[in-house]
Amino acid sequence: MATSFELNGKPTTLDADPTMPLLWAIRELAGLTGTKFGCGMALCGACTVHLDGKATRSCVMPLSAVAGRKVTTIEGLGTTPAKAVQAAWVKLQVPQCGYCQSGQIMSATALLESNPAPTDDDIDSAMSGNICRCATYSRIRAAIHAAADSIKA
Ligand code: FES
Ligand code: FES
Repeated sequence: MATSFELNGKPTTLDADPTMPLLWAIRELAGLTGTKFGCGMALCGACTVHLDGKATRSCVMPLSAVAGRKVTTIEGLGTTPAKAVQAAWVKLQVPQCGYCQSGQIMSATALLESNPAPTDDDIDSAMSGNICRCATYSRIRAAIHAAADSIKA
């Protein structure tokens, strides 16, 4: 069955079982492998994408649920907050092994798009579902503040 939606700004139709997790569809059918599989149970955040601008766990989202909606993956980020987040990530050398980082960047970007001046508590709350086994949390928090400051400047 075909499911049509917008993927990174482009009209997209994928012919697949509508119960297929969005993560599988993105990686295996659309060929966008920046979004990672971690737990498959909405517990780690590695698979985070934006669904209509909101950070969403693609591992538990059936493909049918995105029909007619806008999905953005790490490959499609282009907003000012997204660019600021990516620049801050590079400047502060946030990643260690890197596996969780596309999910971290997706959640951080969604946060700054809804709250351009987050407090530490706002950041901790928005990022609490993104696990990093390398424990880069303090650099993530610093990079989100740096990105927020660069948008303000
Ligand atoms: S892979 Fe989706 S939250 Fe872990
Ligand atoms: S950088 Fe290694 S899991 Fe986060």
